[in-house]
Amino acid sequence: MTDLGPVAWPPAPIRTERLVLREPEARDRRAVIDLLASPEVSTYLGGPQPRDELERTMPAAPSRRSGRFIVDLDGAMIGQITLYRETGHLPQAAGKAELGYLFLPQAWGRGYAAEACAAALNWFAGALPGEPVVLATQTANVSSMRLAAKLGFIEEERFEAYGAEQWLGIWSPAALSG
Ligand SMILES: CC(C)(COP(=O)(O)OP(=O)(O)OC[C@H]1O[C@@H](n2cnc3c(N)ncnc32)[C@H](O)[C@@H]1OP(=O)(O)O)[C@@H](O)C(=O)NCCC(=O)NCCS
Repeated sequence: MTDLGPVAWPPAPIRTERLVLREPEARDRRAVIDLLASPEVSTYLGGPQPRDELERTMPAAPSRRSGRFIVDLDGAMIGQITLYRETGHLPQAAGKAELGYLFLPQAWGRGYAAEACAAALNWFAGALPGEPVVLATQTANVSSMRLAAKLGFIEEERFEAYGAEQWLGIWSPAALSG
């Protein structure tokens, strides 16, 4: 994965009805560790990372890079969204921007991920007009499949990888008006 390229970064914080999308800050460190160490969050993502290793290796402030948004509810991080350029694990999508989303389990089931991802895609459509976005998820990841459909991703293909069926979807800015 690499950065998006020629976009103005960071954008001003993006406000939705209930949330703010912003750059990572030092106060997010605990929530980032919780996210990466959570067995529930990583069920379809290869398993959790050891908490003690994360505590040891994560810098005081989680890394800032172009395309990484922290999703903030009332001043506290509830998840993160990434829009990075695909360079490795999806050869069929090489060079395309890929959406990723990880939310803390206590924030699931309230429509926050859909609200935040729609805002991130809207930002993307303004920053890189006309560019599509891809998304890969396991078909067994029902919540993620539902979210992808809600956001307007259309199935491009299904394939086997990492011992499971994967779904590759594609989103184009036309989905915003549709
Ligand atoms: C994938 C993931 C982000 C989905 O989160 P989510 O909370 O289910 O997704 P949404 O924001 O779309 O919320 C949908 C749910 O909120 C409910 N909801 C409640 N209030 C709502 C509101 N005001 N507006 C919209 N939906 C609302 C919906 O009814 C729906 O519930 P349902 O799942 O019981 O049908 C989350 O499961 C996750 O972080 N998983 C782990 C990481 C992962 O696997 N990522 C995929 C990597 S490719």
